[in-house]
Amino acid sequence: NPLSVLQNLDDFEKEAKKVLPEKAWIYYSSATDTLSSHINNRTAFSKVSLRPRVLRNVARVSLQRDIMGFRSSLPIFIAPAALAKLGHPDGELCLTRAAARYNIPHCPSTYSSIGHTNLAACLQAEQKAADNDRGSLFFQLYAPINKRDGALKLIAEARRLKFSALVVTVDSAVIGKREEDERYKARLDHDSGIVFQASSSPDPDPNLDRPVPRGAHSSTLEWDDLVWIREAWGSGPIVLKGIATVEDVVEAAKRGVNGVYLSNHGGRQLDYAPSSLHTLLEIRLFHPELFDKIEIYVDGGFRRGTDVIKALCLGAKAVGLGRPFMYSLTGYGTEGVCRAIEILSDEIQTSMRLMGVTDVDQLDMSYVNTALLELE
Ligand code: FNR
Repeated sequence: NPLSVLQNLDDFEKEAKKVLPEKAWIYYSSATDTLSSHINNRTAFSKVSLRPRVLRNVARVSLQRDIMGFRSSLPIFIAPAALAKLGHPDGELCLTRAAARYNIPHCPSTYSSIGHTNLAACLQAEQKAADNDRGSLFFQLYAPINKRDGALKLIAEARRLKFSALVVTVDSAVIGKREEDERYKARLDHDSGIVFQASSSPDPDPNLDRPVPRGAHSSTLEWDDLVWIREAWGSGPIVLKGIATVEDVVEAAKRGVNGVYLSNHGGRQLDYAPSSLHTLLEIRLFHPELFDKIEIYVDGGFRRGTDVIKALCLGAKAVGLGRPFMYSLTGYGTEGVCRAIEILSDEIQTSMRLMGVTDVDQLDMSYVNTALLELE
């Protein structure tokens, strides 16, 4: 099996780089300006060490976690990333299928290259074939420029298709300047005759397809808009994606949303935005009571089981991964995504056992040393 030579999530990235068309590689891998946020997402993990306990029976371990109301088999979910078709003709279907097989949530992007109706049907078909109800779909919402009408239509569709949580992305008032992307587009513009086409996406990412200028995205969205968003969505879970400070977690907790999702968009929005580990620590230091008031999710640079464990120790409910799943579906399709989830799940289990922990619910601050991260 060619997949067994892939031993960790970085191996998928190396393979994907070899086979992806240049435009797809650049779109998936690029990040903003100096790349500070992107690089910092990774370096933050090296500043937190683990404090293992020994001589405990760790024969059995449980990795189950509630994620936005869904009982997931693992404390991870597939983060929204647009245009999976650039990596594989089945696109996001690969992610939904793998999510169903491993009983974890998949949160496709507003700009999914497979329609949401098809993804909902795919989940149903997987569940029917396996005679179970494993897997779940969350709806990521960008509130577009002509916000209310467009957003209301999307929310109505999410409800009709029974997506189980609404993830509102709030860090994209404008789209960050990803210089690799810009250079590539400039080169294409220069080579006359070539038109930059975003695969067969029905609703392409504004950053990928011009002519939408970088200035125009969800720049008019405000806290008060959460009122009509809640009304339209009903009583199901709403989570705000792209929170980066303790102040905004305090604000979110007052606004009746169920959760916040700490993220710097994989380093693709504000340069020098904090890593989510850093924001977790900020909450821990200044408002630890928030961990009991509101669910806190994270993403950004998670590649190893120990990365996931560190965030759970700091108080995250679950961890999202973006690029690793795009790289794992590249070329390999659903099987690649399954292999990536398997690797991550094995890494989490092995490390938990070596730490003397048998349930993710036991992970807390006593298992980490964060002194180096606090010095930042
Ligand atoms: C994203 N991300 C993203 N987020 C979002 O809310 N809506 C979107 O459409 C997209 N699209 C998207 C495309 C690509 C190619 C990437 C890499 C990322 C951000 C994503 O949800 C997540 O926050 C990051 O990917 C997490 O960082 P890692 O796991 O990629 O390091």
